Amino acid sequence: MGKLERLDAHRARLEAWLRTCFQAREPRGDLYDAMNYSLLAGGKRLRPVLTLEACFLCGGDMEAALPFAGAVEMVHTYSLIHDDLPCMDDDDLRRGRPTNHKVYGEATAVLAGDGLLTAAFEAMLAPGQALPPERIVLAAGILARAAGGAGMVGGQILDMAGEERALTLAEVEELQRLKTGALITAALEMGWAVAGGTEGQREALRRYGSALGLAFQIQDDILDVVGDEAALGKPIGSDARSGKTTFVTLKGVDGCRALVARLTEQAAEALAPFGDEGAELRALAESLADRQT
Ligand code: IPE
Ligand code: IPE
Ligand code: MG
Ligand code: MG
Ligand code: MG
Repeated sequence: MGKLERLDAHRARLEAWLRTCFQAREPRGDLYDAMNYSLLAGGKRLRPVLTLEACFLCGGDMEAALPFAGAVEMVHTYSLIHDDLPCMDDDDLRRGRPTNHKVYGEATAVLAGDGLLTAAFEAMLAPGQALPPERIVLAAGILARAAGGAGMVGGQILDMAGEERALTLAEVEELQRLKTGALITAALEMGWAVAGGTEGQREALRRYGSALGLAFQIQDDILDVVGDEAALGKPIGSDARSGKTTFVTLKGVDGCRALVARLTEQAAEALAPFGDEGAELRALAESLADRQT
């Protein structure tokens, strides 16, 4: 994602914000260490960057958007900790490090995930924010819906069902939209909500997020087959090992690459209402289409 100066600046601000999150907390055993272990392990920071850039494009206050960007990254990180547990994908490597449960044990990993999910809402709803309350409520509600049964968690349960039986293409598309697309679209809409954007801007961001989210998860499935573990920082072959139906199972790697290319074009087209200002989000979609990490 190099050469996108504004997005790089968003990422740097977000990293600094995340580092301070749990600093002043009274220690609770290993809990905050385990939360920080996964949260501060790098990662592309795609979702919070989308929140900050959507806020920028809709003319909002970037400083006010930071807790919302941080919240979406906390929810995402919690989802990864739980996704790696033995009862789910049973993976040992994440963000280039042993998975949370490998270091802290399963009970602490479950609680670290719970802690991050809860801290996300604490951050968004903290007193003293320089935002109209209705924007806070709108943005927090968007994240709540996208993270739960109607979104990410709902997609994860369909994904687990895909280990038991072969899924159809329509079912895989639905599960991908829920488990990955919902949070990516929500990240954009949260930036819009914080900025108090127009309905037209919301619709454009939704269309971009929906195409980008699907392309992103299809690329994730491709990398699970042809990726490089060291570059990726997580195991390859995880989906095949657990017998999951993915886009690659149904369409093959080449078919998937064509789909990613088409969805990336759709994502770029959706940004038309933002004119030249949409260039960085357009370039981001293009760079994600041939990402190796
Ligand atoms: C991995 O997400 C899980 C998916 C939803 C595909 P990312 O590829 O965004 O993981 P990080 O945040 O960069 O580690
Ligand atoms: C997970 O999808 C999506 C989540 C909501 C965590 P995957 O199981 O494919 O993600 P990776 O490949 O482990 O990162
Ligand atoms: Mg999974
Ligand atoms: Mg997984
Ligand atoms: Mg995967």
